[in-house]
Amino acid sequence: MEKREELYRGKAKSVYKTDDADRLVLLFRNDTSAFDGKRIEQLDRKGMVNNKFNAFIMQKLEQAGVPTQFDRLLGDNECLVKKLDMIPVECVVRNYAAGSLVKRLGVEEGKKLEPSTFELFLKNDAMGDPFINESHVVAFGWGTAEQLATMKQLSLKVNEVLSKLFDDAGLLLVDFKLEFGVFHGQIVLGDEFSPDGCRLWDKETRKKMDKDRFRQGLGGVIEAYEEVAQRLGVPL
Ligand code: TMP
Repeated sequence: MEKREELYRGKAKSVYKTDDADRLVLLFRNDTSAFDGKRIEQLDRKGMVNNKFNAFIMQKLEQAGVPTQFDRLLGDNECLVKKLDMIPVECVVRNYAAGSLVKRLGVEEGKKLEPSTFELFLKNDAMGDPFINESHVVAFGWGTAEQLATMKQLSLKVNEVLSKLFDDAGLLLVDFKLEFGVFHGQIVLGDEFSPDGCRLWDKETRKKMDKDRFRQGLGGVIEAYEEVAQRLGVPL
């Protein structure tokens, strides 16, 4: 496999073409972004930690029957993935109230949500990733009703698998964001799963162990990511 030109540069990852039309290289950079890219800083080791974290989680999900784009690790900061046609919608599952839900509804942070909630946001930084519903996805052609049903079902399956995995490591999976794409007609989990795109709290102390440390200026961001990785047994 040969790495070719850059196809897309996101806020934290760059995507490269390869000599295989069905495969891309994902490069995890140290850039750490919050507030739709309004704040960006470099955090040492973040690219490496997130790349290896993502590889570990994607392999666990595959084993549990969730189709993912992940193919294999290529190095500390890079992995090979399937080339998906991305659906420009973010799927958010929440087990406890936090973040934008708390702001929007004025509910108490940490309130257990039963059942877990499923939300959709349009992936559009300029618009601040607006909250949308299922009918918008179909009406504007971002995805079909059938694709949406699969995305929802897979998101809830991911929640089931990962809530247990993190619970066994003494962590609460508070919420997370997933993105999906289409590969040869099939809905496949894309993007990444790392502490950049989820909330994880220590089960006992409720200490925040995810990107909220960066968003809220709490410090010790990468130290927290590394502790989560170590508790899960992710080889760094
Ligand atoms: P929220 O509470 O800000 O809506 O975020 C819910 C979850 O989704 C949280 O774990 C962070 C993640 N997320 C992203 O990864 N990227 C985003 O652009 C947004 C808005 C949320």
